[in-house]
Amino acid sequence: MPGGIDPHTHMEMPFMGQESIDDFFSGQGAALAGGTTMHIDFALPVDGDLAAGYQAWEKKAEKSCMDYGFHMAVTKWNDDVAKDMEWLVKEKGINSFKFFMAYKGALMVTDEELIQGFKKCKELGALPQVHAENGDGVVEGQTRMIELGITGPEGHPLSRPPVLEGEATARAIRLAKFVNTPLYVVHVMSIDALDEVSRARHSGQRVIGEPVASGLALDDSKLWDPDFKIAAQYVMSPPIRAAGHSQALQAALSSGVLQLVATDHCPFNSTQKALGKYDFRKIPNGVNGVEERMHIVWDTMVNSGKISVMDYVRVTSTAW
Ligand code: URP
Ligand code: ZN
Ligand code: ZN
Repeated sequence: MPGGIDPHTHMEMPFMGQESIDDFFSGQGAALAGGTTMHIDFALPVDGDLAAGYQAWEKKAEKSCMDYGFHMAVTKWNDDVAKDMEWLVKEKGINSFKFFMAYKGALMVTDEELIQGFKKCKELGALPQVHAENGDGVVEGQTRMIELGITGPEGHPLSRPPVLEGEATARAIRLAKFVNTPLYVVHVMSIDALDEVSRARHSGQRVIGEPVASGLALDDSKLWDPDFKIAAQYVMSPPIRAAGHSQALQAALSSGVLQLVATDHCPFNSTQKALGKYDFRKIPNGVNGVEERMHIVWDTMVNSGKISVMDYVRVTSTAW
């Protein structure tokens, strides 16, 4: 059995005023304990500067004890960003760039920026990736929840329902088609999003869909736990969905509509999560998984007869 490759992690990620609690050493230790021997982390620009972000991530990764690679996030658009993308591809071997369609006021890009980024990826032969949620819709959903007096962790999934993930997934897929570039949709969490990936793939468009371990194995019931500490552990975006979505994601992985399993490993400790005790919008978004992914995929997919051992190897390490 080859070591697993987790294509989506966030070690030591500055996010929502905090920093994810695993660094490259502790996160990789967890990964190795669970049978994963390589991961691809998302380097974030520093104040919009991609080169500075890449260098910051190289520094974080100095404490590594296993193989790793980087995707690079693009959070705004200008000539410097375009030049840095070229430098990263040609000099640093980066060949995938993530665009956030949510996290308004922080990481989110506009459609105009998305189109420019997709065009540059196409020119460079790099793969664009999207976090697909409608960021304006999320803000509206959050405002609605607060107005209704819903401030606990259950407000998180209620404020960003599957329709917002489906809409953004459809939009990204269509813009990728418009630009004529392949597209990789990270953390597909809902039936609404996977239906869009499925439709595009059946039409012959080159779209890759990535489920994550939490989405495959869990439903949103824990987000309703009366103990804040427990419920907050399950806050991630897009949210872990109501019962039924995970089974659909498993079926899509089994039939090849979705291709490879990641984790989106981005844990915050209970002190960090407690920042949102009285307002779910302040709970740092992210869950663990880098240690558990190989076992979860084995349990949910192989033990239940949904995929073969050969497919298990493909979805946990060799597919790309
Ligand atoms: O909740 C999440 N997913 N946190 C990490 C950042 C991201 O969107 O991938
Ligand atoms: Zn994301
Ligand atoms: Zn992520």
